[in-house]
Amino acid sequence: MADPQNALAILIGVITFTFALFYWKHLWERRRMPPGPLPLPILGNFLLIYSQGLMPCLTKLAEKFGPVYTLYFGSRPTVVLTGYQAVKEALVELGDAFSNRGTLPIFDHLFHNGGLALSNNETWSQLRHFSLTTLKDFGMGKKSLEEPLQEEAKHLVDHFKTLNGQPAYPNKVLTFATSNVIANIVFGTRYSYDDKKWQRFLQDTHDAFELVSSIWGQLYDIFPRIMHYLPGPHKKIFSLLKPLEEAVKESVRSHQKTLDPACPRDYVDCFLLRMKQEEKNDKTAFTITNLVTTVHDMFLGGSETTSITVNFGFLLLAKHPEIQDKVHREIDQVIGREKEPRADDRNHMPYTNAFLHEIQRYSDVFPMGVVRSTTKHVNFYGYDIPKGTDVLPLLTTVLRDPSHFEKPEEFNINHFMDEDNKFKKNNAFMPFSAGKRACVAESLVRLELFIFFTVILQKFTVKPTVDPKDFDISPIESGFENIPPAHKIRFIERTLES
Ligand code: HEM
Repeated sequence: MADPQNALAILIGVITFTFALFYWKHLWERRRMPPGPLPLPILGNFLLIYSQGLMPCLTKLAEKFGPVYTLYFGSRPTVVLTGYQAVKEALVELGDAFSNRGTLPIFDHLFHNGGLALSNNETWSQLRHFSLTTLKDFGMGKKSLEEPLQEEAKHLVDHFKTLNGQPAYPNKVLTFATSNVIANIVFGTRYSYDDKKWQRFLQDTHDAFELVSSIWGQLYDIFPRIMHYLPGPHKKIFSLLKPLEEAVKESVRSHQKTLDPACPRDYVDCFLLRMKQEEKNDKTAFTITNLVTTVHDMFLGGSETTSITVNFGFLLLAKHPEIQDKVHREIDQVIGREKEPRADDRNHMPYTNAFLHEIQRYSDVFPMGVVRSTTKHVNFYGYDIPKGTDVLPLLTTVLRDPSHFEKPEEFNINHFMDEDNKFKKNNAFMPFSAGKRACVAESLVRLELFIFFTVILQKFTVKPTVDPKDFDISPIESGFENIPPAHKIRFIERTLES
């Protein structure tokens, strides 16, 4: 009989050898992928990410390995693209090959890869085409949307007036306003700023996004199978997002009861009508699940991002009074203080236009972009990227690419203005990403920012509560989203002289 100690040693040896063999095979199969730090079995590059922090780690690796490298999130290799050139070549020039949505463990778990933002192939293509055309029909980027945007901006003005110049946190009311814009398009509804139920949904969504961007969310993204069973704050993400999903379901049910086929009122009505048309099509993407998930996607993807941008914008105005003066002057000259701003006014307002671009560049809402994956095997920059590989287009490295922005770390209007004080387009302006999967709401958001800022600055001057030099507006979280600090600011009504 074999000595039990020897048997144990042999067993450990066999297990170690088999493990080493699998690890070596894994690395060998990926030897032609872009270079990157050596991954550990199971952990991948977790220790490196954890010791440096996700964002600093991602940017430092670009300095070492160049614009295209591979990083292992646990055992999942992810190709990271940095800088304008690499991101543009992948997302625009090889758009088809890089157009699938990649792994987003938290959201995949929530939505089971359904809905516009997470689906792929035929389902995605149907939902994308439908959403783009329907959002256009409901005025996205066109004149008919100006009115609900102006109306929402006026509600903001009324709210800021009630503060009488006292310091207040603007973030909550801004999230309300930006979510109302989406609610208007999808549900045909707006919620009053003191609607307690909607306040709760928005607060929960905000808290969920803070957790997604925190180390807990990052751990879940790297080790979903383990974290799913471990207790911790990450578990709250799912419970926080559930009530909004229920609210969306409730609204869809009420739309079903009141639908008039001759007169679709909003996005949900149009979707329900399309469902009816496709009743007999087994492969249709137009199902109740995809409707609920897509509407939920729009609230999740659209409300926080836009309100973060507007919030950063006000913090920047408070920090840079000289810039605010110039925007004020241009508004006074081109629109005046009483007339309602129109989309066309923007063409005559190069300084304000440059200011709005610079807000989006500087606030850098999705620093890591949203993960894509390859639809087929691609040869890129001389490396092989197998089909189905996750790809992170690091938008922050595009928006801060020194070859396209002279002072990338500074808030500098000259990034979008030439010497003749004319607006200067910059191809590296990619806050909405680029290519086939870029944000569906780009024109809506651009119009919304223009209307919100001009309407509010017609009436107010924004001031910090401390000396602007000491007003620190660095983000408090920088993971999935860049989250601005919560600061009280003053909205002071303008007088004739100011
Ligand atoms: C400042 C505001 C916003 C920013 C910076 C932003 C940015 C982005 C980015 C970077 C993506 C990922 C694109 C990619 O895969 O490369 C995206 C996708 C998406 N956005 Fe936005 N977004 C904003 C507002 C909105 C709004 C208001 C809505 C809805 C009304 C919206 C709906 C979506 C949807 C549905 C997708 C998924 C598109 C797809 O997968 O085909 N976004 N957005």
